[in-house]
Amino acid sequence: MVILTISITSIEMEGETTKYAADISSVKEAYDRIKSLVHRTPVLSSTSLDDISGRKLYFKCENFQKSGAFKFRGACNAVLSLTDEEASKGVTTHSSGNHAAALSLAAKIRGIPAFIVVPKSAPSCKVENIKRYDGNVNLAEDNMQSREEVMNKVRQETSAIYIPSSNDGRIMSGQGTISLEFLEQIPQIDTLVVPISGGGMIAGIAIAAKAINPAIRILAAEPKGADDAAQSKAAGRIIKLQEINTIADGLRAFLGDHTWPVVRDLVDDIITVEDFEIIKAMKLCFKILKIVIEPSGAIGLAAVLSETFQKNPAWKDCKHIGIVVSGGNVDMDVFWESLNK
Ligand SMILES: Cc1ncc(COP(=O)(O)O)c(C=O)c1O
Repeated sequence: MVILTISITSIEMEGETTKYAADISSVKEAYDRIKSLVHRTPVLSSTSLDDISGRKLYFKCENFQKSGAFKFRGACNAVLSLTDEEASKGVTTHSSGNHAAALSLAAKIRGIPAFIVVPKSAPSCKVENIKRYDGNVNLAEDNMQSREEVMNKVRQETSAIYIPSSNDGRIMSGQGTISLEFLEQIPQIDTLVVPISGGGMIAGIAIAAKAINPAIRILAAEPKGADDAAQSKAAGRIIKLQEINTIADGLRAFLGDHTWPVVRDLVDDIITVEDFEIIKAMKLCFKILKIVIEPSGAIGLAAVLSETFQKNPAWKDCKHIGIVVSGGNVDMDVFWESLNK
C-alpha cells in the first residue's frame, strides 16, 4: 500500500515539473504557422536609458505588432490551429481588450466570426480595435463572473469555440515566438523582463528562451496593486485576489492551471512596482524612445528602474536586459494625464 502511494506521487511530481501545455517544438510550430501574418517587431535601444539603468537595455516593441499588442501572436496561432469544422462555428472570448482585438483580427483573416465579451470599463481604444476588425462586441460588468456568464450565453447561442486569453497551450506557444525573434535579434541577452497577468506570455517566452539558453534569467514585472503572481510564487500555489487596483488594465487577470506551473518553475523572480513607477516609465519611453505605450507595456522598464531590482545583489549580473514592451493601446486622455503627472 505504502509503496503504491510513493510511486504514484513521484510520477505525478515528475509529470508536474517536466510537462507543460507548450514546449519549444510547439513554439517553433506556432512560428511556422503565424510567421507570414505577424510583424517581426523591431528592437530599440538608447544610450540614455542604458545610463539611467546602469545596464544595456533592449526593447522588443510589440506595441508595433498587428492590433497594437503581442496578443496577435497567440490569437493567430490558436485560430489557425482550429479544424475547418471548429472554425466554421466562429470563436469567442472574454478579455479586457488586447486579446479581444487580436482574436477579432485573427478571425477576420480566417474569414470566421468573433464574438467578444468585454467589461464595461475596457479602454475605448481597445473596444474600437475590436470593432475595426469586425468583432461582435457584447458588454459585461467589470467582474469575472459577469464576463463568464455573458460569454456562456454567447456560446449557447452560437456554438463558437472559446479561445482563452492566456491559459491555453496554443496561446502560450504563440506568445513564445517573441523569444525566437528576440534572441535571434539580440543573442547576447542574459535576462528577459516580461509583464505578467494571466501568465500566457511569460510562460511561452520562458519555455522557448530557456530551451535556447538555459542560463537566461526570466523576470516578471507586476503591479503592486495586482500582485497575485508574486503572492502565488511566495505561497507555492495559485492565489487570486479579492481586489485589484492598478492603472495597468492589461495586468488584472490571474494565473491559470496551465500557466502557473511554468511561472512556478521557470520564472526566476517577480518584481512588483507601484503605478507611479509605471507612469514614469511610460513618460521615459515617450520622451527618449519616442514611442507611445500603454501602462502594461511600460511595466518592464519600470521594474528594471525600481529599487527592488537595482538594489538586489541577485540581479547585479544582469547586464544585457531584454524588455518586452507588450502593447501600445492606450486612450489619449489616460496617456496625456500620465505625461502631465
Ligand atoms: C499589453 C499587455 N501586456 C501584458 C499582458 C499580460 O499578458 P498575460 O496575460 O499573457 O500574462 C497583457 C494581457 O492582457 C496585455 O494586454
